[in-house]
Amino acid sequence: MKPTLQNILDKINGTIALSFSYQAEDVAALHLLLQSKVPAFEVFTLDTHKFFPETEAYHEDVERFFHITIKRYYPDPTEVEKLEAELGEWGMRWSLENRHQCCEIRKVNPLAKALVGKSAWVTGLRQAQSITRADLTLLEYDEQYDLFKINPLVLWSDADLLEYIEANTLPVHPLYAQGFKSIGCAPCTRAVKEGEDIRAGRWWWENPEHKECGLHIKGKK
Ligand code: ADX
Ligand code: SF4
Repeated sequence: MKPTLQNILDKINGTIALSFSYQAEDVAALHLLLQSKVPAFEVFTLDTHKFFPETEAYHEDVERFFHITIKRYYPDPTEVEKLEAELGEWGMRWSLENRHQCCEIRKVNPLAKALVGKSAWVTGLRQAQSITRADLTLLEYDEQYDLFKINPLVLWSDADLLEYIEANTLPVHPLYAQGFKSIGCAPCTRAVKEGEDIRAGRWWWENPEHKECGLHIKGKK
């Protein structure tokens, strides 16, 4: 018999943390955890200082709706200062190297801080999101961070996600109503046209196989 989310959660000793990026996937994962028998868990965001103003408003909506606090982890200010001096405001778009450098400083390094002392990391990752995610599983062991990584929505289709959100009347990020299908930092995310891939608006100037920010790259140490 395949393990369920609850079976997996029951076996975790220690702190569980959910990474919250304000996307529909994360609000569904948050709801699933709140419905589970897990007594407590941390919800955190990696605040890159590059969020849309709508993201800030939604942050507050989610806290109020679920009666939770979303903990913010920030990039190192000295690293950000150096990065901004080198790249200016838009330099992350000029090359893959620049973009990776920005994601490393603003997202990946803070993630390492967020996961210190955690036993399990819950994400909103789904196989259907991208070719880079097709081999994900519900439960993984993340060697880089030395913890269990749980992806409760891993097998959900776009329709499954929408159905869950509607059935539970969960609040979603306001930019979904303006044609966004995936939410990230403001300089690197745009709305998509009808029929375009759901991640087409993320780093739209790059090839699909490059569209990862480094948070979920396996085997990197
Ligand atoms: S990314 O690699 O392209 O940026 P994506 O936006 O699809 O990732 O999000 C996948 C999962 O990574 C989210 O469900 C969430 O768990 C986590 N995540 C991504 N960005 C953040 C963020 N800024 N803060 C917290 N978690 C994040
Ligand atoms: Fe920087 Fe864009 Fe990555 Fe955000 S998504 S950390 S702004 S490169």
